[in-house]
Amino acid sequence: MDKKIKSYQSVITGVGASLPKSIVTNKDLTMRIDTSEEWIVNRTGIEERRIASDDETTSSLGAEASKIAIKNAQIENSEIDLIILATATPDNTFPASATLIQSSLGIDKCYAYDIQAVCSGFVFALEAADNAIKAGNVKNALVIGSETFSRILDWEDRGTCVLFGDGAGAVVLSSKEGTERGILSNHLHSDGRYADLLYVDGGPSTSSKVGFLKMDGQGVFKHAVKNLSAVIEEALEYNNLSVDDIDWFIPHQANIRILESVAKKVGLSQDKIIITVQKHANTSAASIPLALFDAVQEDKIKKGDLVLLEAMGGGFSWGSTLIRW
Ligand code: UT7
Repeated sequence: MDKKIKSYQSVITGVGASLPKSIVTNKDLTMRIDTSEEWIVNRTGIEERRIASDDETTSSLGAEASKIAIKNAQIENSEIDLIILATATPDNTFPASATLIQSSLGIDKCYAYDIQAVCSGFVFALEAADNAIKAGNVKNALVIGSETFSRILDWEDRGTCVLFGDGAGAVVLSSKEGTERGILSNHLHSDGRYADLLYVDGGPSTSSKVGFLKMDGQGVFKHAVKNLSAVIEEALEYNNLSVDDIDWFIPHQANIRILESVAKKVGLSQDKIIITVQKHANTSAASIPLALFDAVQEDKIKKGDLVLLEAMGGGFSWGSTLIRW
């Protein structure tokens, strides 16, 4: 028996994204609800968002993003061993929408499941895939964040409906030996005492309706700044790094003011933050891979760069992933 202990690193080898075709601007929203372009931009930084049409679903957007990620990773669909989809808006209560994506990719040999950690879902999914790779069980994992939050928005509630958008992003995480690249650390947290600050008031076990998103915006805002700052400092301390060592911060894109407050609190330079909230709004679990896709497309991230992903959302749940690119 081979007693040699192998050490695997999880390296992102491909990134993909997919957005619904329909763009809804702040001006469009002023025709539907009592709001103004100034209020939305000044309070959130959002200028427009994509909204899914009836034939665009969480699984269809996720599958499109996945195809691009797999192509960019230069592997075949059949080489994927694991699919994890982070979503709070699955096509159906079950089966896992990850299996629908698996089927549309024509893969029948991998395992696939959904993770539900709302806006933090993508970092939770990355951690699970990273562990599967480091355990030696998986060679290539597809990690997806895909959401259709427009389906759970109350379009009469101006305090929430202007904030969210639909979309999907995906990465291929590949097992590599003998490299210092890849995921260096994951730090995940949850605190269910705050479940009633951000939730959907419906679901199969409690009511017959799908329900609408409800949020205490100011309550979430305060916790977001505190928890995101803490999780950044936790990652830096664990890896014995200072904030200046990080080349790129890719935060969950909820509100530009949250990103600015966190940057100020931890002393990070604003020009290292990838910001896409202006064009995507808050796409929950999809926001980080969508922002990552943009950064890669724009050739911002170079091989060897340190990239810190961080997110916070309903639950509350929050976490970070540090990557040597
Ligand atoms: O993904 C993670 C989860 N989500 C978040 O991280 C979001 C966290 N929270 C936030 O981003 C902000 O709290 C919001 C953007 C949601 C709200 O910003 P705010 O500065 O906290 O505003 P507010 O809720 O205190 O509302 C201020 C005013 C209110 O009017 P009055 O009571 O002062 O007269 C609201 O009724 O703004 C009013 N308002 C609006 N006005 C125009 C609320 N929504 C709108 C709107 N258009 N869409």
